[in-house]
Amino acid sequence: QRLHTHINKSGAISAPYSIVFDIDGVLVKGKQVLPQTRHALELLWKNKVSYIFLTNGGGVREVQKAEELSKKLGVPVNYEQLIVSHSPMRALVPKYKDANVLVVGGKGLSCKHVAEDYGFKNVVTPEEIHNAHPSVFPLSTHHTRPTSLEEEYIRKLEKPIDVVMVFHDSLNWGRDLQICLDVLVSKGGKLGTIKDPDELHSSKQSTPIYFSNPDVVWSTDFPVPRFGQGTFKLCLEKIYKHLTGQELEYTTFGKPMKSTYEYAESVLDKISPLADGDNTKRTVYVVGDNPSSDIAGANAYGWNSVLVKTGIFKPKNNENHHIHPATVVVDHVEDAVRWIIEKEK
Ligand code: G3P
Ligand code: MG
Repeated sequence: QRLHTHINKSGAISAPYSIVFDIDGVLVKGKQVLPQTRHALELLWKNKVSYIFLTNGGGVREVQKAEELSKKLGVPVNYEQLIVSHSPMRALVPKYKDANVLVVGGKGLSCKHVAEDYGFKNVVTPEEIHNAHPSVFPLSTHHTRPTSLEEEYIRKLEKPIDVVMVFHDSLNWGRDLQICLDVLVSKGGKLGTIKDPDELHSSKQSTPIYFSNPDVVWSTDFPVPRFGQGTFKLCLEKIYKHLTGQELEYTTFGKPMKSTYEYAESVLDKISPLADGDNTKRTVYVVGDNPSSDIAGANAYGWNSVLVKTGIFKPKNNENHHIHPATVVVDHVEDAVRWIIEKEK
């Protein structure tokens, strides 16, 4: 048996391994909590296993997401244990803190507030642009209200956009695709302008674009998978290619990207540091439902992967995923935790 080398914040010794839980399709499906979740959590506490939540969802501050999750699960969830898709995008702050950032996705101004919290000082959203210029998206049935801030928006729009960051799923795909595209083909990020035709077909896009989550689909309480942010990206890529003949260049955060796993490891180092002098590599198990994100990312990062069958992955028989095989496939999250604890005994 290995030595217990993890000591948590309060000085208590915990099990010498940690678990990283995906949320959607593993612990919850839409508004419903999966029936095995509670037992899985109880097993963790009993066995003093440190764990974090790593989701490709987001759209709100980590503190708010932790509160929502805590309410859903009926147990306390510390925001320091929770990583959402856009959490690692904090790394972009030094580069873009004074830039004009178009932040896309989420409800109302929620993602704008998240981005401002992270340290981006000049954030504008498609919603604000639409409010200032209703004609930016003539197909909308959504009536924008002129607000007292309208003049401020219009003033802001005079400054070119330097960078686009998609923080969450768009709630108005047509409009948001239009505005992202407008920026990418504009003259230097200036909305309402477009490059000359020759330049449009030969030059690079006008600004960089970042996405927080590449999931094409995800698991909810609907019987079959639903579009994720990755589908929005596919649409934007296709439109951009169609209009310019060029490939869209972009950077993605979220699972399965290495940057997200590095971020998760830094969170584990904080909440469950290895004891002084312990130079061994941390033992981590990722429990996920999506082979292309949870499992692919864990495997590539050298972590163990446990694939459950309650979400995206629905094998016909009992086989593992063919492209991204997990360390083990189990029925649900409780079996995942039991398997891990047994293996570590
Ligand atoms: O939008 C959320 C989704 O793409 C996946 O969430 O918790 O399964 O990583 P999760
Ligand atoms: Mg999932």
